[in-house]
Amino acid sequence: MNQLSDFHRDRVRAVLAASPLIPVITINDPDDAVPLCQALVKGGLRVLEITLRTRHGVRAIERVRQALPDVWVGAGTVTGVAQYREVEAAGAQFVITPGVTEALLEFGLTSEAPLLPGISTISELMLGYSLGYREFKFFPAEVSGGIPALKAFASPFPDVSFCPTGGIRRTTARDFLALANVSAVGGTWLMPEAAVAAKDWDAISRVVQDSLADLQVEN
Ligand code: 3PG
Repeated sequence: MNQLSDFHRDRVRAVLAASPLIPVITINDPDDAVPLCQALVKGGLRVLEITLRTRHGVRAIERVRQALPDVWVGAGTVTGVAQYREVEAAGAQFVITPGVTEALLEFGLTSEAPLLPGISTISELMLGYSLGYREFKFFPAEVSGGIPALKAFASPFPDVSFCPTGGIRRTTARDFLALANVSAVGGTWLMPEAAVAAKDWDAISRVVQDSLADLQVEN
C-alpha cells in the first residue's frame, strides 16, 4: 500500500504551525475575496482556508494567492477528487476535506497540495493513519465530542495531531489549543457575517486581533 511521504506530512505540519487560528472562509460576493483575506492577514492570520461552499471558491483561491503571496492559501470543503484537481490548478497550497473517502486519501498521497483529511471517529482516523496521515481536521468538533474526544484520541494515537473545527468560538479556541494534540483550530467566527455584509474589513481585522490576543491571556 502506498504511504504518505515525509514531504507531504511536513508541508501539512508547516501549514498548521504557521497560525493557531484558521479562518473557514465562504465567499458570497467574489469582490470580497481579496479585501476580506487582506483584513484577516492584517489582523495576524497566516493561513487561509477558502471553501468551495459557493461557486466563487475556486476563483477566489486564484485571486487571493496572487494578492497575498506570503501566506498559506488553501481550499476547504473539498469533497471529491475532481474538485481536488481543480483547486490545485487554481494554486491551492493545501486541501482540507470535511470527511474522508478512500479516493481522496489515495489522491492526497501524491497530490501537489497536501491533504488535511477530516475525521470525526477513530475508525476514520485509522483509515487515514494506515496510509501514513498523522494530521487531521476534527470535524464537526463540538458535536463530535469536543475536548473530551480529543483527549480520548490521544491515548491510542499519541503521534496524531488535530485541527478541530465546527462549533469553536473565540471563547473556546484557547481551551482546544491547550491540548497537546491540537496544533491549530478553525472556524467562521473570525469573520462575522454582519461585518462581511457591511464590508467592514477593519472590524474583521479587530476580531482576529482580539481572538489572537485571547490566546495569550493568563488564567
Ligand atoms: C468548518 O467547516 O470547519 C465549519 O463549518 C466551521 O464551523 P463554524 O461555523 O462552527 O466555525
